[in-house]
Parts: sequence; C-alpha cells; structure tokens
Amino acid sequence: SKMLYNDRIMERDNLIDIEDRGYQFGDGVYEVIGVYDGRPMMMGEHMERLERSARELRLMLPVSTAEIKNNLEKLVETNGLEEGIIYLQVSRGVGSREHAFPSPETPAVTVAYTREEKRESDVEDQGSTAVLAEDIRWLRCDIKTLNLLPNVMAKQKAVEKNAVEAILHRGDIITEASASNVFMVKGGELYTHPANNYILNGITRRKIIQLCDELDLEVNEQTYTVKDLLNADEVFVSATKLDIIPILQVDDHVIGDGKPGVITKQVLQAFRSLYQ
Ligand code: PDD
Repeated sequence: SKMLYNDRIMERDNLIDIEDRGYQFGDGVYEVIGVYDGRPMMMGEHMERLERSARELRLMLPVSTAEIKNNLEKLVETNGLEEGIIYLQVSRGVGSREHAFPSPETPAVTVAYTREEKRESDVEDQGSTAVLAEDIRWLRCDIKTLNLLPNVMAKQKAVEKNAVEAILHRGDIITEASASNVFMVKGGELYTHPANNYILNGITRRKIIQLCDELDLEVNEQTYTVKDLLNADEVFVSATKLDIIPILQVDDHVIGDGKPGVITKQVLQAFRSLYQ
C-alpha cells in the first residue's frame, strides 16, 4: 500500500529523518479519518480541526487543507481502501535538534497512510468495560498533537484489564477517555464535558450532539464527576472508527443494568444510518 509524503504518493518507505521534530519532540499535529465504502467521513471537519491544531501550535501547514484533502482522496483511491482509516500527521519539519522552533523557512513534513480496519460491530452492539485513570495531560488537550504519552499509559492500563478504554478524570471531573470522548445518560438526558482546553472536541462527539438534536434528546455540555459517572444510567465512548461503544462497567461498578442502554442504542443506530 502507498503513502503520502508531502505532496507525492509513493511506496511506503522509511523516509523519516532522525531530526524530524515529530520524532524527537512530538512536535506536530495529526488526524485519524474514517473511511466507509471508499469514502472518507467528515473530511471537511477533520481538515478544519487540523488547521486549528496547527494554528494553535504556530505550525505552518505547507499546503492548503483543500490540497491535503485532495491528496488524501487520491491516496484512498490508489490504495483501493474500502473500509478503514487514514492516518495523517504534519510535523514541524527537520532541523538541528533545538527545543525552540527551527528557522521559519523549514518546511513542515506531511505524512499519511491508510489502514484497512473492519468496524467493531460486535463490541458496539454488546458493549465493553472501562477503567478510570487520572488525567495527567497538559492543559491544551483541545489540540490534536503527536504528544500522546499520557494517553498511551492510560490505554495500556485499560488493555491490561481487558477494558476498551481508560476514562480520564482530572481530580473529580470526568474529562474524556484516552482516545475517545465520553457521554453519560442520566434521567433521559445526555451529559458530556464541554469543548474547552481539557478535552479534544471529537468529530464523532459533535456529530452525536447534532444527531441528538434531531432525535429530540437533550445534551448537556457540562462537567460531571466520577461519582455521577458511576451512578449514570448509561455511559458510552465515541471516536473515529470506534464509533460508539456502550460502557457497561467502570472498574468494579456496573453501569445501569449492565446492558447497552436504550438511548445509547438509539444514538448508535442514528450514527450507523449516516453511512448505510
Ligand atoms: N483519537 N479524545 C481523544 C483524546 C482522542 O484521541 C480522540 C480520537 C477523540 C475522538 O475524536 P474523533 O471523534 O474526532 O475521532 C477524543 C483518534 C481516533 C486516535 O488518536 O486514534
């Protein structure tokens, strides 16, 4: 399968310089875009977020997002990808290793590849479990940067407990999960952390909020505590490709009646109908 390297589609090859700032500092931004039926989902939203992440880090995208979008579509076609993901990252480029930015004319390095991946319909239907982990990330979680060590450590904790996710809390407040957003349902209404610097504003999260509006379901974008989560009627996580996964148990606490909830199922069905 081919990769995108800057603006060329080429054989997948080891082209990363050891002084690439993405490699040495995690100094760059990324996106993961779902592909269904050969079509990238919500590409416009992903490109907008990429642009915003880059701007917040004062990273100059070498080409317009319209051009990146074109190149990614070409890549999907070249690879004949039907169902899977596109991984795209832009690093601040290559320069002699100094923490401060390299000279302004240093071009950013854009890399993308595709991966075949089947959707996890079984887990989506049956639900899974999660663990709690302290959110020890920096205070700009709204930027989709390559720096993911706290997320890696949290997800590993989940995997070692056979859980699908680690739900993060900053003190008492539930923020999001290691690689997804978190929703809870209480008294027929949904709750999710507001889109501020403490979470990544997921594209899936935004779509769910929009769908709930159409379904006449109330979504409260407000903070809630660990205790609220454990006492919720339903909990689910959302992210690209993972879509919506009901969480039936968090650590030792069973959520609701331990089965995927009615509202979760309703939202999942509405989400699925987007690409069927
Ligand atoms: N992760 N929060 C975090 C910390 C994430 O890493 C992700 C996505 C999300 C959900 O965002 P979206 O709905 O736009 O995918 C929320 C991607 C999939 C990843 O790192 O693999």
